[in-house]
Amino acid sequence: MLCCEGYEFVAGGDTAFEVDAARLAYGSGVLREAGTHANDLGMRRVALFTDKTLARLEPVATVAQALRGAGLEVVVYAETQIEPSDASFRAATEFARDGRFDGFVSVGGGSVIDTCKAANLYATHPAEFSAYVNAPLGLGNPVPGPLRPHIACPTTSGTGSEVTGIAIFDFLEHGTKTGIASKRLRPTFALVDPDCTLTLPKTVVACSGFDVLSHALESYTALPYTRRKRSETGRRPMSQGANPFSDLACLEALRILGRYIVRAVDDAGDGEARERMMFAATLAGIGFGNAGVQVPHAMAYAVGGLVREYRPPDYPQDHAIVPHGMAVIVNAPAAARFTAPTNPERHLKAAELLGANVGGAAPADAGDILATRIQVLMRATKMPNGIGGVGFTRDDLGALRDGAAPQKRLLANAPCEVGPPELERLFSDALRYW
Ligand SMILES: NC(=O)c1ccc[n+]([C@@H]2O[C@H](COP(=O)([O-])OP(=O)(O)OC[C@H]3O[C@@H](n4cnc5c(N)ncnc54)[C@H](O)[C@@H]3O)[C@@H](O)[C@H]2O)c1
Ligand SMILES: [Fe+2]
Repeated sequence: MLCCEGYEFVAGGDTAFEVDAARLAYGSGVLREAGTHANDLGMRRVALFTDKTLARLEPVATVAQALRGAGLEVVVYAETQIEPSDASFRAATEFARDGRFDGFVSVGGGSVIDTCKAANLYATHPAEFSAYVNAPLGLGNPVPGPLRPHIACPTTSGTGSEVTGIAIFDFLEHGTKTGIASKRLRPTFALVDPDCTLTLPKTVVACSGFDVLSHALESYTALPYTRRKRSETGRRPMSQGANPFSDLACLEALRILGRYIVRAVDDAGDGEARERMMFAATLAGIGFGNAGVQVPHAMAYAVGGLVREYRPPDYPQDHAIVPHGMAVIVNAPAAARFTAPTNPERHLKAAELLGANVGGAAPADAGDILATRIQVLMRATKMPNGIGGVGFTRDDLGALRDGAAPQKRLLANAPCEVGPPELERLFSDALRYW
């Protein structure tokens, strides 16, 4: 039996991985093609999802014009909440259900695309809200059939939501974020236009850029697919672990991040850096969509769900948030030190691609080298200093642990055992880095 280079078969482990790549068009001006693709997908009456800021910007006008110019009826929904909650998903679902749409188009960041996915899901396959939500916070029922066609147009260089089957929200009654994960949620087509990034404010470029970095790093250092138990049915979870296909996408995304994230944050006029970040975002989206993230994301869902007062610059000030990418990266150095012993080589490779000098480094130093390099990038882009920098103290460690522990889908994808005691220790290490 032949195994892929760099991987080893393990008794009872999987011997194959799946590639579920996305359909997309990438490049400057591609939003003007929205009408053609909507018609090809049989859309007639379209719900156009966006948010209040984007509703005033060019990408939404371009897409609406393209759709109307192609003879489609368009109704705009701009009420998306930034960092959505179950309440805002429900409000969007009502709009989608009452509007009797036969197609969905989203123009925005992950908040908009995820809201559109959820609205499409519940309008197409009505159910009690918790039905499709990941267990154990929800029932984790499978999505019973295909959704209506959805064209996603990302305007941040971040989440990769345009190519994933995931929708993330803050589950208010549980005080943590969670999601809905199904291949059926993945948009039918993505139009990825790097020109959208030119209007992004600095903090949004930094937060969404660190989301990309984490998607790539967590997937590349996840449990290898060969070490996940093989299912008798042949069905694989979306978080199937690191594999040769996701590795390719993640390594290139890390290389781009190491080279361009600081430039892209510093200078909105640096078109080369901003374009590269958009490409890395979609690439890492395909990578982690086929591998799965792990410890920092599981921790981030607790950080995002338990925020009290923090209001970052460049984001709407109407409610306290820790933007997703920021919630992830404040945990990443602690997690890197924790997972490095499972595969020092991969952690050193990631550090090198992010710009660290790893010449002659001992395997035992891999975690420190990677964590230090991430911290350098965080400081250069004015990210907060750990979870202490977004308002958490030692008194919150128990609540943070309890918010992260139910993220079973993510924790099972970590390269080593992570239970409540490890999570509490990780949050303690993440309180302050410098
Ligand atoms: N579905 C997935 O696979 C996935 C993966 C990671 C994160 N997420 C989720 O995505 C959300 C975060 O999304 P995000 O980081 O893309 O940001 P976002 O959608 O929350 O937007 C952040 C801010 O940037 C503004 N903005 C967006 N595009 C702009 C542009 N081109 N010009 C000017 N302003 C612009 C928005 O109006 C908003 O104020 C979180 O809820 C997170 O949990 C989803
Ligand atoms: Fe993410």
